[in-house]
Amino acid sequence: MKIVMISGSRNLSGQTARAANALLDGVSNAGCDVESIFLPTLELDRCSQCEDNGWGICRKEGICIIEDDFASVVKKVREADAAVFATPSYYGDLSESMRAFMDRLRRICVVSDGRIGIQDKPVMGVCVAGGGGGGALACCLSLEKVMNACGFDVLDMVPVKRQNLKAKLNNLRLNGAWLATAAKMKPTVQ
Ligand SMILES: Cc1cc2nc3c(=O)[nH]c(=O)nc-3n(C[C@H](O)[C@H](O)[C@H](O)COP(=O)(O)O)c2cc1C
Repeated sequence: MKIVMISGSRNLSGQTARAANALLDGVSNAGCDVESIFLPTLELDRCSQCEDNGWGICRKEGICIIEDDFASVVKKVREADAAVFATPSYYGDLSESMRAFMDRLRRICVVSDGRIGIQDKPVMGVCVAGGGGGGALACCLSLEKVMNACGFDVLDMVPVKRQNLKAKLNNLRLNGAWLATAAKMKPTVQ
């Protein structure tokens, strides 16, 4: 079993990473392999709304024509048995890299071909408000909305703020164990 963690933070050892790593500890302790991908380290453009009507080939074929790292991250998500999406809360919303990735992902998921390996895949979201501490919940709503639009099976959303990060680490480890259990129960997508 393999679980991929997609992070919208550029800080490999920051607060988002700390929260996500606690969840991944739970996943590893349950016997699953983990891989972490940090979106800000990749080349990831925003959607260019290819056609005048705002759509593009995504709507017909479930692929994106922009040649950057998007397709390789989607491939990793498809191949994984479950996924974690973790983002710092910026202005009570997703980080820009997570926004760019998720906005393109939901477009290719408009058609069934694009949803292959995504539909019903168990996922969890973690949103970390590491400044004043406001906006973690709003960020979770935003992330959950786009994950639902993609067709994922959203098992849980975990809002974290600077003030409760340490207290949430044990819960995140339990979440990881639960995600691993869900991944093992899901039939493999062909
Ligand atoms: C552009 C920007 C907007 C931010 N907005 C918020 C916010 O609305 N609420 C908050 O608590 N922290 C905010 N922060 C702080 C981040 O949430 C904090 O730096 C982040 O959670 C730390 O995660 P990291 O260690 O993974 O970078 C903001 C930071 C940046 C750079």
